[in-house]
Amino acid sequence: MTIQHFLSLLDLPPPDLRAIVNRAIELKSDPNLVRKQNQKTLGLIFEKSSTRTRVAFEVAMNQMDGSSVFLTTDSSQLGRGEPIADTSRVLSRMVDCIAIRTFEHSKLEEFAKYSQVPVINALSDTFHPCQLLADVQTFTEHRGDINGKIVAWVGDGNNMCQSYINAAIAFDFELRIACPEGFHPKTELTSQNNDRVLISENPKSAVLGADLVVTDVWASMGQEKEQVKRAKAFAKYKVTPELMSLAGRNALFMHCLPAHRGEEVSSELIDDVSSVVWDEAENRMHSQKALLEFLLS
Ligand code: CP
Ligand code: NVA
Repeated sequence: MTIQHFLSLLDLPPPDLRAIVNRAIELKSDPNLVRKQNQKTLGLIFEKSSTRTRVAFEVAMNQMDGSSVFLTTDSSQLGRGEPIADTSRVLSRMVDCIAIRTFEHSKLEEFAKYSQVPVINALSDTFHPCQLLADVQTFTEHRGDINGKIVAWVGDGNNMCQSYINAAIAFDFELRIACPEGFHPKTELTSQNNDRVLISENPKSAVLGADLVVTDVWASMGQEKEQVKRAKAFAKYKVTPELMSLAGRNALFMHCLPAHRGEEVSSELIDDVSSVVWDEAENRMHSQKALLEFLLS
């Protein structure tokens, strides 16, 4: 039996070429002629490393009988300078949803502006909203509604901290942020929400009586060169069992992970009964599945 290759157009007789073009027109008008009924595809574009977010999205799509396509900047034409707007126009004609992990939040906004399908922030320098869905789910499972509760954020005013500010508005809780001067979250976020967001440079008063204590790494992805400077600035912001003992009796500890055990959080606290970091990580998958179901329906 001869195998039909396609190395040049002239490998196929003209009638076969015409038949393929006509079939393409037919498939375009009804994709379900060959794909499983309404099967969805998620595009993932990651400019930064990931374990939880990527696996959660891919497993979620598999479990929903869909599929995903993973791209990095280096392996795609984005790395060679294809404009974000053009990439967005092209990809959004082929997939049903796109999750992006990047540096500048403005890149996400630019991508979303030209996309025909929903775009999800899989982490930017400014926000990490998918993590907050999992955090709120985890708190709710362990302690009931987070509405009216006290949450203490100890550490950098980074993308996670800023997402906690948004969560305080959306889910209606009090947020006490303790972070050193020079590392505060964006002023526009805090000043507009000073009825429920309190900033200080005192981890002890932030944690006092809190229902949930949260921290994150001191140097986020992209800030690796500032590691030493940051370690000095954040030295008194480490979350330890002693600091946790000032929180409410049933207070929980969360960290989006990956953690630098012994740095922003003492290793023993991650493994303490008050820590729910593994549930939090698992919930990335459940909450992203729920988000995808919502956005794709
Ligand atoms: N928490 C979080 O987003 O983890 P990854 O960087 O592993 O995706
Ligand atoms: N603030 C961290 C979160 C990692 C999930 C970072 O941006 O690197």
